[in-house]
Amino acid sequence: MSQFDSLISAARAARENAHAPFSNFKVGAALRAASGKIFGGCNVENATYGLTVCAERVAIFKAISEGERKFAAIEVVTDTETLTPPCGACRQLIWEFCGDVPVVLSNLHGRVEELRMSQLFPKPFDSSNL
Ligand code: THU
Repeated sequence: MSQFDSLISAARAARENAHAPFSNFKVGAALRAASGKIFGGCNVENATYGLTVCAERVAIFKAISEGERKFAAIEVVTDTETLTPPCGACRQLIWEFCGDVPVVLSNLHGRVEELRMSQLFPKPFDSSNL
């Protein structure tokens, strides 16, 4: 039992809803707000490809649109042997909205790795640069 079990379960459940007919690469994410509430997200693809939104950003936008502004951790799950880290665009938004949170990567076979945003995104551009 780890502090991230419920987050991992929520990401797995969200992944079931992934709309990925073009890549067949289903991703689930879950974001824990400081309030304790968990927001799931999945990737949503479309025929133009470029308008695809990653699972992490769906989770972030759901939480922000529900009024959350402080976050404790984010989790990403895929059905791959090598764990899937957030893409560059998602790293930018995770940094801006969540700061130096734990980023938990997992797969469907129970492999789990915990990193921090400052490891994944060591020299960010953000509002402090403006
Ligand atoms: N994808 C995510 O949802 N999150 C990531 O961190 C990596 C990539 C999605 C986007 C696209 O639907 C599919 O995975 C393949 O790139």
